[in-house]
Amino acid sequence: MFFPQFRARRIRGNEIFRRMVSETTLSVSDLVYPMFSAFGSGIKKEISSMPGIYQQSIEHIVAEAREAYNLGIPAVLLFGIPETKDAVGSDAYSETGIIQETIRAIKREVPGLAVITDVCMCEYTDHGHCGIIKDGDVDNDSTLELLAREALSHVRAGADMVAPSDMMDGRVAAIREVLDEHGFDKIPIMSYAVKYASGYYGPFREAAESTPQFGDRRSYQMDPANRLEALREAASDIEEGADIIMVKPGLPYLDILRDLRNECNLPLAVYNVSGEYSMVKAAAAQGWIDEERVVLETMIGFKRAGADIIITYHAKDVARWLKRG
Ligand code: PBG
Ligand code: ZN
Repeated sequence: MFFPQFRARRIRGNEIFRRMVSETTLSVSDLVYPMFSAFGSGIKKEISSMPGIYQQSIEHIVAEAREAYNLGIPAVLLFGIPETKDAVGSDAYSETGIIQETIRAIKREVPGLAVITDVCMCEYTDHGHCGIIKDGDVDNDSTLELLAREALSHVRAGADMVAPSDMMDGRVAAIREVLDEHGFDKIPIMSYAVKYASGYYGPFREAAESTPQFGDRRSYQMDPANRLEALREAASDIEEGADIIMVKPGLPYLDILRDLRNECNLPLAVYNVSGEYSMVKAAAAQGWIDEERVVLETMIGFKRAGADIIITYHAKDVARWLKRG
């Protein structure tokens, strides 16, 4: 059917028709809000490259978690900044580690909010890599054991879901096995299955103080040029028992998100990462873009590409904008 029989504008002519034919929806239930928990007390330090996002000590993080909960956001994703770091990231799996204390405090004060934890070593190691170093590279198999210990300690502290972001091979299976062994067979794993070695993580590394002290992460994170590899990564994580699959970063990888949506039937998450947030904030501060409009358009883009879950630093703003309608 072609013009003049077909006129695409007929169903765009008024607000009611536009509502009726809208293909994609965005809801506050789609959102996860990432937060950075810092050791100490009375700390609330804004990350210079991420306006509105803070490193904060437990009392402040609990207050913000409550705010997120009151806005209807279903879950937060926690990152920890420990007091001390060492070669094997001991604080990551310490029972009294920063993240374990934070989980307990949030679950005590805001029990209705789901707590998801990032499982990785880079915030806890003095070299800033996501695992144990052997011969100048991250050693895969010895890292698995520590990741499993870390995940178990998060769940013991009350985490509702764990999200491994290290990109070691076999970590989902290792974590699943340890959780099941200890009776935590009901705890889901949201795997950062498809995580690219990305320049968009720059501001996060300031926030989490996790910049690698030598080299980069390209021996474990994926090459941005690769698309088929994403399917292999996702397939192997699904095989190992992942419950939710994540693509990260978001905006430059919408094609990958769509590929996964077409290829697998698990829930899909996308991480709208720090650099994506910083760029929007910087342009909005200059008055160059309409922040609300651009952010909501980005969120709809993620949903349209296939995401069920959007992890975003904009979550509280989006929740407010959706509420106001
Ligand atoms: C740690 C981790 C990173 C992010 C989430 N978990 C950084 C990295 O891999 O260097 C990035 C999140 C963001 O940029 O917002 N492995
Ligand atoms: Zn890491």
